[in-house]
Amino acid sequence: MKKHWWHKATIYQIYPKSFMDSNGDGIGDLRGIINKLDYLQKLGITAVWLSPVYQSPMDDNGYDISDYEAIAEIFGDMADMEELLDEAQKRGIRIIMDLVVNHTSDEHAWFVEARQNPDSPKRDYYIWRDEPNALVSTFSGSAWEYDEASGQYYLHLFSKKQPDLNWENEELRQKIYDMMNCWIDKGVAGFRMDVIDLIGKIPDQEITGNGPKLHDYLKEMHQASLLNKDLLTVGETWGATPEIAKQYSNPDNQELSMVFQFEHIGLLFKPDSPKWDYAKELDVAALKRIFTKWQTELELGQGWNSLFWNNHDLPRVLSSWGNTGPYREKSAKALAILLHLMRGTPYIYQGEEIGMTNYPFADLSQIEDIESINYAKEALEKGQSMESIMDSIRQIGRDNARTPMQWTDGHQAGFSSAEKTWLPVHPNHEDINVEAALANPDSIFYTYQKLVALRKEEDWLIDGDFELLETADKVFAYQRTTGDKSYLVVVNLSDQAQPFEFEVSSKETIISNTQEVKVLESKTLQAWDAFCIALD
Ligand code: GLC
Ligand code: CA
Repeated sequence: MKKHWWHKATIYQIYPKSFMDSNGDGIGDLRGIINKLDYLQKLGITAVWLSPVYQSPMDDNGYDISDYEAIAEIFGDMADMEELLDEAQKRGIRIIMDLVVNHTSDEHAWFVEARQNPDSPKRDYYIWRDEPNALVSTFSGSAWEYDEASGQYYLHLFSKKQPDLNWENEELRQKIYDMMNCWIDKGVAGFRMDVIDLIGKIPDQEITGNGPKLHDYLKEMHQASLLNKDLLTVGETWGATPEIAKQYSNPDNQELSMVFQFEHIGLLFKPDSPKWDYAKELDVAALKRIFTKWQTELELGQGWNSLFWNNHDLPRVLSSWGNTGPYREKSAKALAILLHLMRGTPYIYQGEEIGMTNYPFADLSQIEDIESINYAKEALEKGQSMESIMDSIRQIGRDNARTPMQWTDGHQAGFSSAEKTWLPVHPNHEDINVEAALANPDSIFYTYQKLVALRKEEDWLIDGDFELLETADKVFAYQRTTGDKSYLVVVNLSDQAQPFEFEVSSKETIISNTQEVKVLESKTLQAWDAFCIALD
């Protein structure tokens, strides 16, 4: 199998509005990111996935793009973007752009023209029908919006300010590939492709994800923009099974490097219920089953996994699988060790490396996320209590991941000099912040730093196969083996001691959040114990 740089890479996701504010308007920006590149270099990451910084009315914080080739004013301008690419490159850091091409903003010139002039060729860039059908938007309500002037409805699978593009239109597809090439020429190292599994939709049959032409489009895109450029491409694919993930990521298919699959994330929600009915108890046995399935099914050369706990749409992992109390640091390290030693490319979401947690949102006035706000409106109309709505938002809402990065224990956590930031800074920044983490050699940060370094150095992380070991329910233990080398990873995913019955000896502890492990003499794991040892 041909090895690429991204097989040994760890990617760091930046949500620009919340990373670092350089000009005191309370909103993060490109200059802020440039100012923090030394920090990212210290963490050791290979590349940054930059959530959208393009021109946008910010109905969905930049996932509604009005010009793919301009930068949103709140973030800076194209000169800042070029400087970021330059300064990152000097530090060995690549930049991966977010590619949002399932939809544009309704303020994109294409849509403005499509709406004003139904005879324009741009009309067919979008999806218009005389009557709506039953399709619903991810952000609540019908997925069809009536346009008075032309008497037709347009499709929007997200907000009504995010009209869906019509991928059946060849001219449109070509424009998208040209735009991608433009960014590639500027020096970006790849793309994270927003809800890419929706582009093959057939609205009239109510097919949205995994439509019949999806893979044809991706193959065409690959030929037009990606071929032989050694880029990292990762698709956001909520509906992917291992079979589907192999279709995307088998190198012979020439589509994408990898996809984000969300099966383990699905455990946060109650089965077959709306997302807001979150699971009150998390099922560790199911987590083990799901990770094992993905690890074994995406065999080397057949496909490639991405590994993640967090992103800008998800609650903080410490507030779900981890412990936000006495075991915060230990559980954060345990979850990191568990994830980063599997096969795939790991992603760290900003703040994860210092153990940031969900925000204690008191009421709707503190919420900015369109998905949460629309949900609250709809649930209130249906008679749900405000208390239970806020409970769901505190547990599952997307703003949990979006509160400002905590740099110091000072004013606005060192994120901004503003009196008011766009989302409030978490009060726990007094304890949880980068400055404190860097000063403490035992901090979560250094566990992540070590894991990132291991990923670059250790070939067994790529080549080794994966085997789940039978253990107590709350213990996740797996072995990675390649040639005559074998490594054991053991994690206690609970606040209680757990039995662990293995007789092994080892000369080398690879990483651990507890003492050095030479011989597993003790038959008990303490709460959140986690380690990896090389087996003799
Ligand atoms: C993806 C993004 C999310 C956005 C949606 C619509 O799921 O991650 O933030 O709201 O697509 O673009
Ligand atoms: Ca700013």
